Amino acid sequence: MKPRGTFIRSGKVKDIYELDADHLLFYFTDRVSAFDVILPSTIPRKGEVLCKLSAYWFETLGVPNHMVGVEGTNAMVVRKMTMIPVECVVRGYLYGSLFERYSKGEVSIPVEKVLAAKLPEPYFDPTTKSEVKDEPITEEGIVSEGRMTAPELKEVKGSTISIYNKMSQRAAQAGFILADLKLEFGRRDGKVVLGDSIGPDEFRMWPADKYAPGKSQDSYDKQPVRLADKRRLQGEAGKSAEGRRADSATAPAPAGTDRPGKQQVRPHLRDVHGQEALAAVPGR
Ligand SMILES: Nc1ncnc2c1ncn2[C@@H]1O[C@H](COP(=O)(O)OP(=O)(O)OP(=O)(O)O)[C@@H](O)[C@H]1O
Ligand SMILES: [Mg+2]
Repeated sequence: MKPRGTFIRSGKVKDIYELDADHLLFYFTDRVSAFDVILPSTIPRKGEVLCKLSAYWFETLGVPNHMVGVEGTNAMVVRKMTMIPVECVVRGYLYGSLFERYSKGEVSIPVEKVLAAKLPEPYFDPTTKSEVKDEPITEEGIVSEGRMTAPELKEVKGSTISIYNKMSQRAAQAGFILADLKLEFGRRDGKVVLGDSIGPDEFRMWPADKYAPGKSQDSYDKQPVRLADKRRLQGEAGKSAEGRRADSATAPAPAGTDRPGKQQVRPHLRDVHGQEALAAVPGR
């Protein structure tokens, strides 16, 4: 189906069209991003998976959200919101960038230092949402920088953790562990509303029967892509060390998009949650 409306911009994964003053159409493309860069190849039907999973969660979570309806296989009509510039990450396991920061003593959580260990309780781990580089931010920072008021933060944090718990229970029924999750909220009519998308771009999902702490986990998310991308980069780093040109560290945006510079450069390696993620990738 051809998207309708007026094209506004392309994110890394979704193309955004304006339908009217109150509504947007998200067109979920098959683009894949890893470490904040769009990869040169697409994955057939990835957009459909993200669109349908997002619709499933918006329909079943029972929390106020921006979805109006799905059109065809890849498009969703949503209510336009002013997005809150915080990526609401919640983690149930010591993995990815949290493992790395924990190892450096940057965060203190009462858990043994074992990769993929289950945390005693879900850990709210927000980052900034920035055009340049998303960084971990404290709850105090969120309020002092005016990203949310203190009551908004309380509500958003509570909602993020409760959504994680609900989704974890649903995942467990299907034999999966929801290791972590990134949500985005916006403001509409003075209320905080869940927005963006909820799918394998936003969470880590592990098959429960293969779960074993102390190693990288099998996963049904973008981790295999991150791993492949990291191997490719390591190959390129080797080449440039030999004096050869490493020419694919920047992935060009597809023609006809107005994607901002953030996606076209590789400032550093980041995970789906906008943070360093390689602790969980074998080889690092
Ligand atoms: N209801 C909404 N109203 C307005 N903007 C929204 C809404 N829901 C999500 N968004 C924003 O739309 C964009 C979705 O596109 P996508 O996820 O592909 O972009 P991205 O590359 O992750 O983000 P960005 O371009 O902001 O770095 C995000 O910027 C997200 O914050
Ligand atoms: Mg996004």
